[in-house]
Amino acid sequence: MPQTLLDASPLRESGAALALASDLGAKYISGIPDRHVAPSKDDLTALKAFDEPMPNSPQTVEGTLRKLDTFGSPATVASTGGRFFGLVVGGTLPATLGARVLTSTWDQIVFNDATSPVGVKLEAVASRWLLEILGLPRQSSVGFTTGATMANFTCLAGARHALLARQGWDISKRGLQGSPPLRIIASEQIHVTAIKALTLLGFGTEQIEYVPCDAQGRVIARTMPKLDSSCLVLLQAGNLNSGAFDPIGEIAANAAESGAWIHVDGAFGLWAAASDKTAGQLAAYDRADSWVVDGHKWLNTPYDCGIAITKSPEPVHMAMATQAPYLKVGGTVAPKDMVPEFSRSTRGVEVWAALRSLGKSGVAELIDRCCSHARLFAAGLEGIGFEILNDVVLNQVVASWPDNETLAPRIAKHVQDSGTAWFGPTTWQGRQAIRISVASWATTVRDVTETLSAVRRAVFELTEDL
Ligand SMILES: Cc1ncc(COP(=O)(O)O)c(C=O)c1O
Repeated sequence: MPQTLLDASPLRESGAALALASDLGAKYISGIPDRHVAPSKDDLTALKAFDEPMPNSPQTVEGTLRKLDTFGSPATVASTGGRFFGLVVGGTLPATLGARVLTSTWDQIVFNDATSPVGVKLEAVASRWLLEILGLPRQSSVGFTTGATMANFTCLAGARHALLARQGWDISKRGLQGSPPLRIIASEQIHVTAIKALTLLGFGTEQIEYVPCDAQGRVIARTMPKLDSSCLVLLQAGNLNSGAFDPIGEIAANAAESGAWIHVDGAFGLWAAASDKTAGQLAAYDRADSWVVDGHKWLNTPYDCGIAITKSPEPVHMAMATQAPYLKVGGTVAPKDMVPEFSRSTRGVEVWAALRSLGKSGVAELIDRCCSHARLFAAGLEGIGFEILNDVVLNQVVASWPDNETLAPRIAKHVQDSGTAWFGPTTWQGRQAIRISVASWATTVRDVTETLSAVRRAVFELTEDL
């Protein structure tokens, strides 16, 4: 075989590393159905193998990758498989995994179109498709962040900029100290990361005016205070426990002339817009001013990927630009000037790969399938003797053991230890419960039934001596 330039280049080793990583990764994935979801005690103990002094001299690439696989792969939580139901965690669609591998070989910085023309192009396409499938105003700006936490931060920074600008205060120049006061009004169920974003932006937790919620965790619209142009309102599409939606359209419509900024944390719930069967729950939510959704949750892109969307691109650009803002009507803005990160990976390419490989019908089917699995879980848990505490309107199920609430967390632990599946405990409306979130494309009906069998075994063993 003739020697190519690559054979003679230091990059040759990168090709070999990629081939080996690809082999090891493929073996990892094919082993997922037969392995425990959480690592065993022995797997965790074996992590000690990494406690070695830093080598004085180079070690082989192959040896390094094999060590990573031998001791690292078993100590992962198999959240990329079909039986991880904790937090709200998606798996990795095949096209997104492939795109991640390919984009890693590119090693692009999607800073602007000089550093990554393809990154900027595909993020622009992904943004357009996202706005379409999520039913959001087409002129909105889209920024790709590490997750919903930073997407909340991005949108809220834009909101802060806009609300203060309406009061004649340019926060970029004059800072927060001495600025006109803003009122922060939030669902009492707002996610902790939205509160974290607020505190990062200089708002204190004691400043937040909480709005009461109903038994499903939805803001009670009639209890909303009167809004004006000093108000930043934080609502949710998809409660972390119940999956319920705040009446965003109704609140936004009432606030229409007030000048308040309505922000929606829809980290997973906004994907309900992609299916006719669930979109009704998001009626008129496009009236809000900003929205957050994750790629790494229900769209099943690899970690990490959050998406910050603002109806008017200008305030977020003013808040994020590293030089004099230069938003032009109809023009494009460098990604670095729309999100907190200056240098970052082309994570929007994986969103493009997910949306392209699934198409509109595939995304809708993914949402419907997960919701159907959630209903199957609810029915199965009820059959075992649980009380379902939420209306299963989406992919979330919260269940408690009626006569002995302390059993719920113990059941979760028992199932985790069995290795069959993983879900966690929660507290809902003051009651101890288990929470099951179905967000992985890889979950099958069989995964659901095997998990229910593990729950049944746990109940049997834990109640035997009662
Ligand atoms: C409603 C909501 N908002 C925000 C977050 C935080 O998302 P991330 O971990 O992507 O920052 C979550 C995580 O579960 C969530 O459910």
